[in-house]
Amino acid sequence: MQIKQILAAAAVGTEITVKGWVRTKRDSKNVVFININDGSVIHNIQAVVEAGIVDEETLKLVTTGSCIAATGTLVASQGSGQSVELQVSSIQVYGTADPEKYPLQPKRHSLEFLREIGHLRARTNTFSAILRVRHALAFAIHKYFNDNGFFYLHTPIITGSDAEGAGEMFRVTTLDPKNPPLNEDGSINYKEDFFGKETNLTVSGQLEGELGAMALSKVYTFGPTFRAENSNTARHLAEFWMIEPEVAFNELTDNMELAEDFTKYVIRYALENCADDLAFLENRLKEEEKNKKQDERSELALIEKLKFVVDNEYEKLTYTEAIKILLNSKRHKEGKFQYPVEWGIDLQSEHERYLVEKHFKKPVILTNYPKDIKAFYMKLDDDGKTVRAMDVLFPGIGEIIGGSQREDDHDKLWARCQEVGIPHEAIWWYLETRQFGSAPHSGFGIGFERLVMFVTGMSNIRDVIAFPRTPKSAEF
Ligand code: 4AD
Ligand code: MG
Repeated sequence: MQIKQILAAAAVGTEITVKGWVRTKRDSKNVVFININDGSVIHNIQAVVEAGIVDEETLKLVTTGSCIAATGTLVASQGSGQSVELQVSSIQVYGTADPEKYPLQPKRHSLEFLREIGHLRARTNTFSAILRVRHALAFAIHKYFNDNGFFYLHTPIITGSDAEGAGEMFRVTTLDPKNPPLNEDGSINYKEDFFGKETNLTVSGQLEGELGAMALSKVYTFGPTFRAENSNTARHLAEFWMIEPEVAFNELTDNMELAEDFTKYVIRYALENCADDLAFLENRLKEEEKNKKQDERSELALIEKLKFVVDNEYEKLTYTEAIKILLNSKRHKEGKFQYPVEWGIDLQSEHERYLVEKHFKKPVILTNYPKDIKAFYMKLDDDGKTVRAMDVLFPGIGEIIGGSQREDDHDKLWARCQEVGIPHEAIWWYLETRQFGSAPHSGFGIGFERLVMFVTGMSNIRDVIAFPRTPKSAEF
């Protein structure tokens, strides 16, 4: 039985077998206590082995990190800290773990150290909790969309278009790097490549998502996304997972409502279904923050913070209003922003964090950004200067969602393509949806790892994905 099932439902007196990894083993007079964890819940089950029940040779092999099956009777626990324990009748050792070499000892390890042992770190309380919360959030996302009439659209991972312009791309090729076929002018002849053209890993499924929305009305994607920017920050991965809903007939305000309703739903789902893991992560965060200066500590504990987001309306304002707030801020007047503030700038993370963490102290949706700092596909506002963009900013995270109403007018869209230099042969199929039954539509993309960071309270994105991919790092 999984430990989760045992703790939830098994009756005292039943005969059970638990299989899992040994967290600790403690010898005391005439009895050995073994804590076993199988990853199904944060809790261990304590196996109690009385003298003479299991032979010494076998017991010696049971050490921290080893994998065993313990069979016995479930009994009410005599000790504190658990309500039931396993009175062992036999033990089978599946795999030993040399105590001299096993890197995970029953003590606190730094997150940096754990990143170096990515093949084993899921065996810690912290990472198993994060991975379970991550799973619950993924499930909640599919449930939300399914329950609301959306269809899961699988958009391609290999793409022949780089029109989106969301970031630097990773090339996909089967050409021999030492001896590629060349054109007469010396450039590489991609007609000889696998797909007969240049191909890359996708930076977003949005453009194909829009094609889906123009047929199924409500679609979403949930897939891996790749960006080759060399941004070595705590919020960027080279390979991350993005969820992108796209909805026909939605305008910008509908899009904002969807983003708010959706994020609140999945956070509430985690609160209701991951209580033990969140309680553990909340304590972890409190411990970690003890080493921080008073003003760097979060005002709310993790669970309080999540409840606050679920229970309060997001602040909604335009980019232009946000710039005014920044210009009027004490921080700006004292020259304490590193980057200059004026209408037209791309907001830096320090600006976003000021708005969210200092000024409003809640999630913020910023809309109607200048067209020059946003993608070509966003619908132009009537003033001709701004577009129907929206970014959702979260405390401690910054931008968690980017989205917009899309330009549905063929001629305006084609004019924008020309302005930013997208050739017709790269984008003709996208333009055609504006010639054949075009409709107003909107969508957004939410970075899954940034959502997991927010819900788990982890501050480095490398710690919310099992095997992170970042510049100069693709181990495991
Ligand atoms: O703002 P972005 O670039 O928007 C798009 O890609 C649009 N096509 C989305 C759409 O409208 N369908 O990315 C969306 C989100 C960001 O807000 C952020 O949460 C996340 O994706 N993101 C990253 N997460 C981790 N590592 C990176 N390098 C990320 N880049 C973006
Ligand atoms: Mg963005």
